Amino acid sequence: MVYNPAMRKKLIAGNWKLNNNSLQTGDLIRKIIALTAGISGVDVVVAPVFPFLHAAREAIGSSGIELAAQDVFWEEKGAFTGEVAPSMLADIGCRWAIIGHSERRQYFGETDETVNKKTKAAIKAGVRPIVCVGETLAERESGATEKVIEKQLEGGFRDISEFPMTVIAYEPVWAIGTGKNATSQQAQDVHAFIRGWLKAKRGSDVADVVRILYGGSMKSSNAAELLACPDVDGGLIGGASLIAEDFSAIIRLSVGK
Ligand code: PGA
Repeated sequence: MVYNPAMRKKLIAGNWKLNNNSLQTGDLIRKIIALTAGISGVDVVVAPVFPFLHAAREAIGSSGIELAAQDVFWEEKGAFTGEVAPSMLADIGCRWAIIGHSERRQYFGETDETVNKKTKAAIKAGVRPIVCVGETLAERESGATEKVIEKQLEGGFRDISEFPMTVIAYEPVWAIGTGKNATSQQAQDVHAFIRGWLKAKRGSDVADVVRILYGGSMKSSNAAELLACPDVDGGLIGGASLIAEDFSAIIRLSVGK
């Protein structure tokens, strides 16, 4: 297969983190739908908190926006208080799950091994994983970025071959919620490294179709430049995804509008 970035449809995902009540969840979705009316050629995903996935689904209606969970567990059922199984997400029409976000790695003990288990379980249930990788500032400054990303990819995707289901998000930890985004060159360099890893480990057919999102202070003022990089196939957006105007502007920019 010849390398052709055009065959990777852009994906713009909003990671709402621990924000919004049920009313705000519906309102934000309705505003995004209104502000992006007539826009096509891009996949749009939003990730509200678990309790409001239902409210979100109602607000989404037939607009084509898709739902993501911010996390998922690897077991299907049983004595695992507080957890949510991938099949339960699929049951309510939630077709995506963010896995291994750096906040989960930092505060909730997520490891490459648990990322791997969650990713496998999600794929099995037909829930598409958005697997997050990224280096800290200290790791970048010591020149360890590629080593760190490679370790996260090796561990997170161990024994996984179903890559068309999967999206990878490169989120440099130092850029998340800091207002300090990676430059487009820094993003492109790491995205190309990830695609190179995919090609070496899983072949060109996989590397050419897997979408790699950039995340970390992406907003309407820097999105065009980041999204123009050949290996940046979309964005995983936190802060700016909570503002309908900003998130919608990024969706429009992703298709050149
Ligand atoms: P941010 O968050 O856009 O607020 O930096 C991105 C993320 O954590 O996914």
